[in-house]
This record gives sequence, structure tokens and C-alpha cells, in this order.
Amino acid sequence: MPDDPRYEEVIFAKILEYPGCEFLEIGTRTGRFSIPCAQHIKKVNGHVDTVDFGGDFVVDPTKTVTFNMKSERQYIAQTRIRKEKLWDHITTYYCGANAFFKRNLRKYDVIFIDGDHCYEQGGRDLENATKALRKGGIIFMHDIKEMTQNLPVNKNVKRAFLEFDKVGFTKRMHEDIFDMGIIQCVR
Ligand SMILES: C[S@@+](CC[C@H](N)C(=O)[O-])C[C@H]1O[C@@H](n2cnc3c(N)ncnc32)[C@H](O)[C@@H]1O
Repeated sequence: MPDDPRYEEVIFAKILEYPGCEFLEIGTRTGRFSIPCAQHIKKVNGHVDTVDFGGDFVVDPTKTVTFNMKSERQYIAQTRIRKEKLWDHITTYYCGANAFFKRNLRKYDVIFIDGDHCYEQGGRDLENATKALRKGGIIFMHDIKEMTQNLPVNKNVKRAFLEFDKVGFTKRMHEDIFDMGIIQCVR
């Protein structure tokens, strides 16, 4: 989770560089990031897709969310989306990242990976994200640090980032934010 507000600012600023920006977030949680992100996306007439566990369905945020919501996190996200009338700019997918990518046919300009921070899933998310990225698109990978989710460095997402090496993509750490990895499609 991006505790440092500069992290969000960096991503929001990047969005504005892509007219009609198609954005994907892995790891919605309560929508703390993706909902303000949708407000920024609105400025460029873009769209946020955001994915987290909870069931294999897309929620309709124009409908009141009450008893049938599967979790408090979904309730918080959906209530806020509805209240802020953001449904044209954000879609919440309640399934795991692997299931999402299996069905996904869309391409994205900006992808924010902030789901499972373990080495294996982080690597899978990264690989899937590169396949779903448009030419010139950018991936932000969060929590590239020594210890995350109580996982040591050889078992966490930092290792997946360090090992990433794919033709057509550049990789670097953000200059100011020590735990943010950046991968860009240059094909
Ligand atoms: C660090 S939180 C995300 C925080 C959110 N991006 C934000 O900035 O507020 C990680 C979230 O990723 C979700 N998650 C973990 N593994 C996942 C997976 N394989 N697919 C989808 N979501 C996953 C968790 O349920 C959790 O809500």
C-alpha cells in the first residue's frame, strides 16, 4: 500500500500523459488508491480496472450495495464509487489476478502492481502485466524492498523485479521513491 503520498502523485502525474488512459491496478483493497486514481483518469477521459479477491464477478456500482456484498472492503469501495458517481471511470473485478489475466483481452497504458508481494505471484503478475501493456506503456511495481509481507528478500516481489529481463522492456527503480520499480515497454 502506498503510504508515501508522493507515490500516488507520481502515478497520477503519469496518467495525465496518456489521453484516454487505460489503467489497471492489481490489489484494490478498499479502493484507497484506485478511487482517487479514477478521479484523475476522468481528466483524460480514461478508465481504471482494478482487481482483488472476492468472487468471480464485476460489481455494478450504480446499484446500492448492502447485504450481498462479500466483504467490508468491497462495501467500502463500492459505496464510495457510487457516492462519487465514478462508475464510468472505474470497474472493479472481484477475482484473483491470475483469473483476471486469463480472461482479459484489454491493453493498458499504465499498470500498478500492488497485489500479492511474494516472489512467485509477483513474477506472474509482472509477466502478465507486460503482455497486457501497450507500446509505450508503463508498469509501477510497489514494495520493492528488503522485507514485505514478512517475506525475506529471496521470497518477495523484489526478487521478481530484480530477475525481470525481457526484450522490449526497460527497467529501473524510481529516482526518489526507494521501493517503487518501473518497467516501460519500448517496443
Ligand atoms: C497492499 S494491498 C493493496 C492496496 C491498494 N493498492 C492501495 O493502494 O490502497 C494488497 C491487496 O492485494 C490483494 N491481492 C493479493 N493477492 C492478490 C491476487 N493474486 N490477485 C488479486 N488481488 C490480490 C489483497 O487482497 C489486498 O487487498
